[in-house]
Amino acid sequence: MQRNYTLTINMADERGHFGSKIGVILASAGSAVGLGNIWRFPTETGKNGGAAFILIYLLFVLFLALPVMAGEFIIGRHSRANTVEAYRKMAPNTPWFIIGIMGVLSGFLVLSFYSVVAGWTLDYTLLSITGSLSGNQDFENIFGAFVSHPYRPVLFLLLFLVITHVIVAKGIESGIEKFSKLMMPLLLGIILLLVVLSVTMPGASEGLKFLLQPDFSKVTPQIVFSAMGQAFFSLSVGIGCLVTYASYFDKETKLMSSALNVCAIDTLVAILAGFIIFPTVFSVGMEPNAGPGLVFVTLPNVFVHAFSEMPLLGDLFSILFYMLLLLAALTSSISMHEISTAFIREHFQTSRNKAARIVTGICMLLGICCSLSFGPWQDITIFGMGFFDLFDFLTAKFFMPLGGIGICIFVGWYMKKEEVRDELTNWGKAKVPFYGFFLFLIRFVAPVCIALVFLNELFGISL
Ligand code: PHE
Repeated sequence: MQRNYTLTINMADERGHFGSKIGVILASAGSAVGLGNIWRFPTETGKNGGAAFILIYLLFVLFLALPVMAGEFIIGRHSRANTVEAYRKMAPNTPWFIIGIMGVLSGFLVLSFYSVVAGWTLDYTLLSITGSLSGNQDFENIFGAFVSHPYRPVLFLLLFLVITHVIVAKGIESGIEKFSKLMMPLLLGIILLLVVLSVTMPGASEGLKFLLQPDFSKVTPQIVFSAMGQAFFSLSVGIGCLVTYASYFDKETKLMSSALNVCAIDTLVAILAGFIIFPTVFSVGMEPNAGPGLVFVTLPNVFVHAFSEMPLLGDLFSILFYMLLLLAALTSSISMHEISTAFIREHFQTSRNKAARIVTGICMLLGICCSLSFGPWQDITIFGMGFFDLFDFLTAKFFMPLGGIGICIFVGWYMKKEEVRDELTNWGKAKVPFYGFFLFLIRFVAPVCIALVFLNELFGISL
């Protein structure tokens, strides 16, 4: 008993924390900004008809995902524990910890399919460095042949997971925070440049129309459901990722303004990614609903067309872009990894290294299944989906919104009002923008709306 107690105290000391305010925002924004913005957002927007989808998405970010994010920050900093232990501490002897368990399991699933796309990005980085992506080529076929290759994408997926592992194993301040601080500003800069290149391509205006002119007559419950999934996925909310990060925040961190900042940065990057992809898609005569390959087929086209006179510059841009996309993917993958690593480390009282190794090992196995579902395992399906699509569906559209409802009810109804107020106001020291409105959102609007979108999609129940 004595040994256990001492161990717990030591582990609390060793948990680590973010070293600066800007580090908090950039690490959380690093988690949020990733393939979800630059790859998944355009893919979903393309599949779901464009501008109307984007508008619904924006509403969901503001009214559903943002309150959940603030809720996660509150739970994380209040408990200073991993996402399972947080509920155990704050609500002992109740089933609330199930939200945490669901988060840890989802963390494994998300990281597994995410690493597949990140592996593609890694390969495209190398392809652009070796010049294999330059010149006028059939990028659609190049991409198709690559993802269905029996082992090449698997190797890149494994390599990506190893890199993620190394950063997480290094810890909070010198691993996660340092890395995010360096990469996020660089990413924003290159994205802005690409927007300019893309909207000035010939025929770009069709793409702008697709992004800006909503056609609400085409909106279906399925599109609304997808927009909600995308909002949760893009902001990394609902599976305890930000609970875990907030457990490393200090007492000075302003939770609400951090949440607002992270949402703003994330949304900006997603919209800008739309402005990079769609003008080009229309400019080169592709269909906007091309699916997961959209980014990997359209972007090489941007580089070739925009720099037809100066191919070397095109190559340089291509290298820079895929490298940064890879880094954005890394700042997100480390946050997914940290959900389970923090849990395993603290629950089983083991070292960070060992916990990280377990997480990486499991994700490697699951990731291989996802990767093979584009090639040799194409025909293996569960509920009509391959592993990749299944993991994406289960997490983004199912566990994240469901976890979101749980977090809203926990913060809005279970936690004491004074506790919530103290966390948000830093014990009376800070002013909180929209405090009353936030409470209204987290207690009523968010849980009810999430539940309605769910019921509507799953059982066809509408108001
Ligand atoms: N938000 C990340 C992205 O947009 C993905 C993510 C989901 C990260 C869940 C952490 C947890 O790429």
